Amino acid sequence: MLNAKSIYSLSPTFMALQLSPKRGLASKIMSTASLPSKLALGLLVLSAILMAMLYTIHKSASFQTNVPSGWIMDTPGANEAWKRKNEREQHRREMLETEQSTAAEADLEEEEERGPMNIILFYADDWRHDTLGAAGNPIVKTPVLDALAQEGVRFTQNCVTTSICWISRATLYSGQYLARHHFEMLGRGRTVNGTQMYFEVPQNETIYSLLKQKANYSVGHAGKLGLWVELDRDLNFDFMVDEDGWHYRKMGNKLWHITEKNTADALRFLTTRDKSKPFFLNVAYFATHAVDGDKRQYLPQNESLWMYENDTIPIPVTATEEAWKKMPNFFGDNNEGRTRWRWRFDTPEKHQSMMKNYYRMATEVDTSVGVLLDVLRNEGILNNTLVIFTTDNGNFHAEHGLADKWYPHQESIRVPLIIKDPRMSREFIGTTNDQFTLNIDLAATILSAAGLEPLPSMMGRDMSVLYRKNFGMHGATAQSRRTSHSTAGRQFLDPASDGEGKYHSGTETKWRTEFFYEHPMHSNPSYIPASEALVRKDYKYFYWPNFKYEQLFDIKNDPGELNDLFNSTNPVHKAKLEDMRKRFLELKMLAHSDLSIVL
Ligand SMILES: *[C@@H]1O[C@H](CO)[C@@H](O)[C@H](O)[C@H]1NC(C)=O
Ligand SMILES: *[C@@H]1O[C@H](CO)[C@@H](O)[C@H](O)[C@H]1NC(C)=O
Ligand SMILES: *[C@@H]1O[C@H](CO)[C@@H](O)[C@H](O)[C@H]1NC(C)=O
Ligand SMILES: *[C@@H]1O[C@H](CO)[C@@H](O)[C@H](O)[C@H]1NC(C)=O
Ligand SMILES: *[C@@H]1O[C@H](CO)[C@@H](O)[C@H](O)[C@H]1NC(C)=O
Ligand SMILES: *[C@@H]1O[C@H](CO)[C@@H](O)[C@H](O)[C@H]1NC(C)=O
Ligand SMILES: *[C@@H]1O[C@H](CO)[C@@H](O)[C@H](O)[C@H]1NC(C)=O
Repeated sequence: MLNAKSIYSLSPTFMALQLSPKRGLASKIMSTASLPSKLALGLLVLSAILMAMLYTIHKSASFQTNVPSGWIMDTPGANEAWKRKNEREQHRREMLETEQSTAAEADLEEEEERGPMNIILFYADDWRHDTLGAAGNPIVKTPVLDALAQEGVRFTQNCVTTSICWISRATLYSGQYLARHHFEMLGRGRTVNGTQMYFEVPQNETIYSLLKQKANYSVGHAGKLGLWVELDRDLNFDFMVDEDGWHYRKMGNKLWHITEKNTADALRFLTTRDKSKPFFLNVAYFATHAVDGDKRQYLPQNESLWMYENDTIPIPVTATEEAWKKMPNFFGDNNEGRTRWRWRFDTPEKHQSMMKNYYRMATEVDTSVGVLLDVLRNEGILNNTLVIFTTDNGNFHAEHGLADKWYPHQESIRVPLIIKDPRMSREFIGTTNDQFTLNIDLAATILSAAGLEPLPSMMGRDMSVLYRKNFGMHGATAQSRRTSHSTAGRQFLDPASDGEGKYHSGTETKWRTEFFYEHPMHSNPSYIPASEALVRKDYKYFYWPNFKYEQLFDIKNDPGELNDLFNSTNPVHKAKLEDMRKRFLELKMLAHSDLSIVL
């Protein structure tokens, strides 16, 4: 684990902050020519350009604070006032905790004192669950996100219900499964009786418009909207810049890198917003997405190219010809996952250079997150801001002989989720949580944080119940509380028939232990076949509708999903297959229903 001091020494942003006006510490670090310090130089370039661009930034130059009170926010002990306040608070709680409901009352009071929270969502692209130092990745450097995890909760089994950008984003905006929002084709929606349906979610029912219209938030979006259809600007946004599909682009006289542009746009929103209102900002990075159609795929900034140059990226154990041959026989050379594998991973040299560039782009995003959080910290509002880092889908890095996403394997469906919430109970700070949190939960979580009820059409639940002691999962009084009402009016399903209640999609007092996964066919079944699954922590059932092909994996004992148990004669596997097939159909039917249901 990193301690606060090592976070400081690792953080490129922190060092960039030290560079001006007092050069002491910075030059000392620079002279060691260590890895992060060179990154700091790159960052300095980035910040300098941003400073020049940001005509709106005041002379006070929010980048130049020299004495951060903590890395991302108030690291305990760093700030005396903070400490005193906490001692008082702790004393008050100890007195109150003799009675749960009174303690809950106190938390509630505290929230009311606080006033409405700001919400910042860092929504990266194609970023799989283990592209994080905090998740144990031995190569990639993500010091800011690692520190964020230390000050919040990292959800280790967070998944998407569909692994592709535009569908996952439609889910983020609507809180619904693809089965309900129907946005199955980039830019076009689905085709019904020959008619293009475009984006079918009512424009006044996206999280953007709900926050803007019903909660009076100032709402910004900087980066990839990812739908390729317009959302009504007035209804949804106070600030909206949509950037998608490029890594370098000349605008005016400047050649922009996408991450630099995303950062500048986010800063522009933060500095020009109506400060009398709370804000919601989605910083929707295009990184680490490849440029489709450019054989180089990943184009990090020149300043980052030195990073990882002497590292050797480990090759995943399932990145073998044998694993590829074990894919169902309808996975041929035309499969888009295989085509992109040839672009990225079909020689050891390519594998190394592609992964290094991918990691460079990830580190650039990490740095950008640091820059933006520093702006909030310097403004004194980070302590009243809900911070979420997550992404739209995972990625195969040559596992099963594949690249990219779409399919129900772990590499594709698991994505990072880190939440730092001012309401978080102390005991959860710096912990990990291995519940199945899903992208359908983001809408409910964000709306609840703004004091809004999720709409009856939304299918996820407020994740804050997982880290607020006196709410939801952790307190008997939870469901009656204003701030944990996220399931009000919506129904939970009965548990699955196998497992005696162990498998369920969530109950009033328990988090879900299984979920339905879905992905539509793209173009034709040999290009990207449709796939569906019932995902649990012990077993996963796959269904490939175009081929009516089923698979069963014991993912506890076979985490690489190599040994398909569909034809197993073991009675345990046979019973498991039967039960999971049945449950899969139940959940699929419910996902496709119009019931007000929590999945
Ligand atoms: C599509 O056409 C069929 C047959 O005419 C009809 O039953 C169905 O309701 C139509 N669907 C929609 C969404 O209009
Ligand atoms: C969105 O607009 C429709 C049509 O005016 C209305 O029926 C619906 O209640 C609105 N939704 C919300 C959440 O206000
Ligand atoms: C929204 O917030 C602004 C700024 O605080 C305030 O002037 C306005 O009255 C608010 N509108 C509503 C409907 O609450
Ligand atoms: C990056 O470096 C290459 C090679 O030196 C150069 O051609 C290119 O213009 C540089 N790109 C930027 C954005 O500075
Ligand atoms: C990589 O190795 C070369 C040759 O030893 C060295 O010059 C360079 O500084 C190293 N790069 C990093 C980032 O350590
Ligand atoms: C956040 O910190 C600022 C000073 O840095 C303080 O004035 C404010 O009361 C704090 N807010 C909360 C909600 O703790
Ligand atoms: C299971 O058996 C079916 C029918 O014989 C066959 O099509 C399928 O490929 C087999 N699956 C595996 C994983 O061996």
